[in-house]
Amino acid sequence: MYTDKVMDHFTNPRNVGEIKDASGVGEVGNAKCGDIMRIYLDIEDDRIKDVKFKTFGCGAAIATSSMVTELVIGKTLKEALEVTNNTVAEALDGLPPAKMHCSNLAADAMHAAIQDYMKKEKVQA
Ligand code: FES
Repeated sequence: MYTDKVMDHFTNPRNVGEIKDASGVGEVGNAKCGDIMRIYLDIEDDRIKDVKFKTFGCGAAIATSSMVTELVIGKTLKEALEVTNNTVAEALDGLPPAKMHCSNLAADAMHAAIQDYMKKEKVQA
């Protein structure tokens, strides 16, 4: 049911952890399944220098969190904001339809972390 890429990111997730004094932190939860995802960003000169995540959730939520960190590291904020749940799901070679909401969580948490940074720094998108 899961692609090899999903299994790979689930069993060997990248960038797990947290960043002390992060530039931006985003947390989203899904009321239905109760899963929570938190993304930490280290931003320098409008670019994502480092990113870490903590996810309390299903395998797909962990795989999508891991993938989203790989997709945005090194990107500008504008480029990172263009990464959507579909980008994440496609990068994982697809998710079962019932699990698409899990990729939403990853993209939303990442966007929320960027917004948190912009609010703090009073940066315009
Ligand atoms: Fe909740 Fe996957 S079942 S994020």
